[in-house]
Amino acid sequence: MSDPQTEVFRWNTPESRFALLGVPEWGKDYSFASFPGTVPPEVLAWAAEREPRGLILYGAGSRGKTGLGISILRSLVTPTPLPGERLEQWNMMTIPLLPGASMEGITPDYIGAPCHFVQWDRVLEKYRRERFDQTAWFDGLNTDIDVLMIDDVSAEKVSAYKESFLLRHIEWPFEKKGRALILTMNTHPSKWPDVFGDRTTARLLNPKWFLAYEVKGTGLRTGSRNG
Ligand SMILES: Nc1ncnc2c1ncn2[C@@H]1O[C@H](COP(=O)(O)OP(=O)(O)O)[C@@H](O)[C@H]1O
Ligand SMILES: [Mg+2]
Repeated sequence: MSDPQTEVFRWNTPESRFALLGVPEWGKDYSFASFPGTVPPEVLAWAAEREPRGLILYGAGSRGKTGLGISILRSLVTPTPLPGERLEQWNMMTIPLLPGASMEGITPDYIGAPCHFVQWDRVLEKYRRERFDQTAWFDGLNTDIDVLMIDDVSAEKVSAYKESFLLRHIEWPFEKKGRALILTMNTHPSKWPDVFGDRTTARLLNPKWFLAYEVKGTGLRTGSRNG
């Protein structure tokens, strides 16, 4: 049998790390390079500098919010080491594979990747399930995840109980240094108080907590009503 250490490195490529993030099939090739428009310098800078605050990408449909967020995740699994940082160190932490384990059939549900993509609707779906274990969900985020992207946060008014659930996600990065949350949404900040309530809006609008960036690119989908 080959040396488990070597085995881990053999599988530990940017592609295999990306495959663990939970990005749906349609986004599996997304990167800054494939982005069909100009990548906003603010978004690139946020990804490169690993700012200690979250990122909100908001704007009308088909502007590239989701595509930019996924491109950031890809850049995080294809890292350029910072001065003094060893790439292998980052890699070792990235894939906590058991010695000798194979990557076959591995899904983000049972192996931790340090970044994770999830659609807000999917999280809510879990949440509505009677047996949803909120503690286990947040424990999982706490132990495994450094950068969480929540795509398409609802434009519908959230109920009080959903607000507190969303707020827990928003506050999650602040329990440990180095964590960040990426949110995408169609909702304009002027509507946030109505949709999310005052407490959540105060966090979202606080520039120490989030960089709120409006993605304004013209409609990217072919034949889109925005384009
Ligand atoms: N990084 C990318 N690489 C390739 N195509 C992309 C990328 N980002 C966006 N697109 C294309 O642009 C379209 C709209 O982008 P999307 O991110 O879904 O917009 P939004 O989230 O603002 O509604 C996508 O359907 C896709 O065709
Ligand atoms: Mg989107």
